Amino acid sequence: MRERLQKTKHTFAIGSGKGGVGKSLLSSNFGIHCSKKAYKTLIIDMDLGGANLHTYLDFRPTPTRIDLWNPREPESILKTISSTAFPGLDIIVGSDELLASQIESASIELLVYEIMKLDYEVIIFDLGAGVGPETLIPFCAVDTPVLLSTPEDTSIENAYFLLKKAFHFKLRQVSKELGYEQGIQEIINKPLKKFSTPSDLLKYIGGSEQFPGFNSKMKELSPGILLNQVRSFNEESIGPSMAQVCRHYFGLDIISVGLIQYDSSMWVASRKNKSKMMNYLDLKFCGQMSSVFQNLLKSVTFNPQRNKIRA
Ligand SMILES: Nc1ncnc2c1ncn2[C@@H]1O[C@H](COP(=O)(O)OP(=O)(O)OP(=O)(O)O)[C@@H](O)[C@H]1O
Ligand SMILES: [Mg+2]
Repeated sequence: MRERLQKTKHTFAIGSGKGGVGKSLLSSNFGIHCSKKAYKTLIIDMDLGGANLHTYLDFRPTPTRIDLWNPREPESILKTISSTAFPGLDIIVGSDELLASQIESASIELLVYEIMKLDYEVIIFDLGAGVGPETLIPFCAVDTPVLLSTPEDTSIENAYFLLKKAFHFKLRQVSKELGYEQGIQEIINKPLKKFSTPSDLLKYIGGSEQFPGFNSKMKELSPGILLNQVRSFNEESIGPSMAQVCRHYFGLDIISVGLIQYDSSMWVASRKNKSKMMNYLDLKFCGQMSSVFQNLLKSVTFNPQRNKIRA
């Protein structure tokens, strides 16, 4: 396993649609986990407008931030990287100055592309809430998108909404990349062809000889579902159920990557030096986090084509 990872690059994005469900907490701890396993790791705060990933790493605000990147000089991405106190873990600190609404989608795509080219073994995007291009672009570009939800109805609802948006975003991206834009659009617009689910649409496209390779490209979007802040035994089945429903509805290889309980000692732990934080947390919580992280590292099958996000 270690040998295989050494030769490859693995990219992850943690998204949820809803805010405050634990994306930054888990992204930062996943980054620490990977660096402790000796993988050269980079985490990026893509929460444009609400950047706080650095705080989870006891990192003071710094002028070395994502807004030093200049779309006209793509290699300026190197100027945005800082080292953290954790050996082997680097960070691109976010910025509230770089508002998503002020950047064109094409620039975000270029930014994500430049980041994914960087020389790291593990790259983790911590996404913001919502379904803007700064979320959809990395979510659809990485090897393993992670869809994070809590057991709350509103969180589940927003997670489905992100997945639905990501499906349509990927559909447009793949149609364009393979030159099927017109053909796919014609199928979607045909008045007699009613597809009740995205999975029906994929089945129809897969059954036609007109679009070779389309479905396998679409299946690159196969998020892992992670349930956080689980408080009772009854809630434990929510993650696997969500994965099953999504697999069926979207026709994508969506799996559950585990669950993490609600840890009431978090508020005490979060006030401590982050490198000692684990000492204050519930042991079961720490065990669940590390088993989820191991699952994530195991779930990746490296495919060199995946890093080409621009057609
Ligand atoms: N399993 C958990 N147990 C207890 N507290 C948790 C758990 N997961 C997250 N939290 C707490 O929930 C709060 C929100 O977490 P976090 O900032 O990671 O969310 P987020 O999804 O990144 O939010 P945003 O969308 O605003 O970026 C934090 O105070 C964090 O410590
Ligand atoms: Mg966050």
